[in-house]
Amino acid sequence: MIRYDYVVIGSGIAGLSFALKAAEHGSVALITKADKAESNTAYAQGGIACVTSSEDSFELHVQDTLIAGAGLCDEDVTRTIISEGPARVRELIALGVQFDAKQSAAAKEPLGAQDLALTREGGHSKRRILHSRDVTGREIERALLAAIDAHASIQVFEHHMAVDLISLSKLGFASEDRVLGVYVLNQASGDVLTLRSDRIVLATGGCGKVYLYTTNPAIATGDGLAMAWRAGARVSNMEFIQFHPTCLYHPDAGSFLISEAVRGEGAKLVDNRGRRFMERYDSRAELAPRDVVARAIDAEMKRTGARCMFLDITHKAADFVRERFPNIAQTCLKYGIDITRQPIPVVPAAHYQCGGVQTDVDGATTLRGLYAIGEVACTGLHGANRLASNSLLEAVALAHRCHEAILRSRPHDPLNGRNTFPLPDWVSGEAQDLDELVVVYHNWDEIRRLMWDYVGIVRTTKRLQRAATRLRNLEREIQEFYWNFKVNTDLLELRNLCTVATLIVDSALMRQESRGLHYNLDFPEAREEQRFPSILRRN
Ligand code: FAD
Ligand code: SIN
Repeated sequence: MIRYDYVVIGSGIAGLSFALKAAEHGSVALITKADKAESNTAYAQGGIACVTSSEDSFELHVQDTLIAGAGLCDEDVTRTIISEGPARVRELIALGVQFDAKQSAAAKEPLGAQDLALTREGGHSKRRILHSRDVTGREIERALLAAIDAHASIQVFEHHMAVDLISLSKLGFASEDRVLGVYVLNQASGDVLTLRSDRIVLATGGCGKVYLYTTNPAIATGDGLAMAWRAGARVSNMEFIQFHPTCLYHPDAGSFLISEAVRGEGAKLVDNRGRRFMERYDSRAELAPRDVVARAIDAEMKRTGARCMFLDITHKAADFVRERFPNIAQTCLKYGIDITRQPIPVVPAAHYQCGGVQTDVDGATTLRGLYAIGEVACTGLHGANRLASNSLLEAVALAHRCHEAILRSRPHDPLNGRNTFPLPDWVSGEAQDLDELVVVYHNWDEIRRLMWDYVGIVRTTKRLQRAATRLRNLEREIQEFYWNFKVNTDLLELRNLCTVATLIVDSALMRQESRGLHYNLDFPEAREEQRFPSILRRN
């Protein structure tokens, strides 16, 4: 058993940012289940929303966020996070993140706020998105990892998967509950380690993989959310799953995103005859918030029977397009689409979980010693629909605030450094019948398909109920596997996906209205008496 001052689970922008700060004050274990650079963060394209221009203001950014959030954002939290932006962006720049500069900017290091190039995305009333061409996340991840690698007090556990939290109640104590440690699977050896810490920070990202079509990479299986739920933390707003309107539609492309910034730079959505349709749905047209654009594409596809819609940026100069969106241009070209000359075939896909483990504005969950930051958390910033590029902002803001709040509270924590509870070693089932693996893959596929078909962009109560019934059966089957078989990554992820799918469906059934990303044909209007976050507690 190893003891750390901090255990951080996840190496995206939230986990890396927190670990760097925490390492100044104690030992840090950074647990990450794939290569350390693999995360949703690494695929972020559009950029990070932050008020830097004299034509912009915190108030405008707050208002845009509240409008997108459809009445469910926590206004105080929104203000706090948005006003953190400039300081956190300065830190990223100091760490070496190269945001694009305005063409007119003088060549100097580091760039000042006035030098940064700004783009626009749906729902933003001003240009305020800082970016690094169309690979902003990769650039941020690169700079943060370089700093982590240079830090002696951070021990990085790559290819280690957090399995479950250890809490007082799990040990059978009836006093106020809190976390004491975490079980972690070494994916190479199959051994399960026990890590002891009074402060465990979930930075495990989202759960896009619960849907058949998603922009998210394979790591996004909702592990942190499922672990927190099993440990008894409160979960909020899980019905609000954001579908990104424009994922590349190509049989070999997997889940490649076409950034909203392409629309921000003037691309138009058209049908297969080149006709624009967004103006019929919203006066903001292509730059309406995401829920509106995704539903409009879905409706047009259903109305016309088309398999996709198209995003057309061919009216812009080819050099500009290739320079501004090099990753998108090259990837599309690999699939035979020259975006400077041809419209891009696009479909919506699951993209972001707006709900998550309920936290305060400092990342504290309802379980003492457990913190959640980044996409896994629900702070109240996103409400019923996240404003584009507010996610990277929230992750850096919460990483900072969480660290500061822990520093303030540590001296008052009765357990501080005295966590000597006997933590039991992991006990695993021993069966290893590989033939049974087919059931794991079957269940995995079934969950993802049923979520796509029954719990997608447009929902009905009957479909949600059908999904709930099927998920309960799957849950029983998976639980049986979990107890009898030696755990491995696939089985653990399947168990987590099933839990997260159930939480999404249960939350969606609770909300008897349509609001933001949750659209139910049986309750097509928003209802004032339902304007509160959905909250689930175990049992
Ligand atoms: P992640 O970056 O997802 O990191 C999660 C980490 O946790 C990973 O390292 C993962 O391996 C690890 N992990 C998960 N489970 C376990 C476990 N059980 N044990 C150990 N490790 C685990 N947002 C914006 O604001 N602007 C954008 O331009 C933007 N573009 C996007 C484009 C794409 C294609 C996608 C998918 C998302 C985009 N987003 C964007 C959303 C944004 O990227 C994410 O919300 C954000 O990066 C989440 O950061 P995070 O640190 O919370 O989690
Ligand atoms: C994008 O580039 O379109 C993604 C932005 C986001 O998810 O915030």
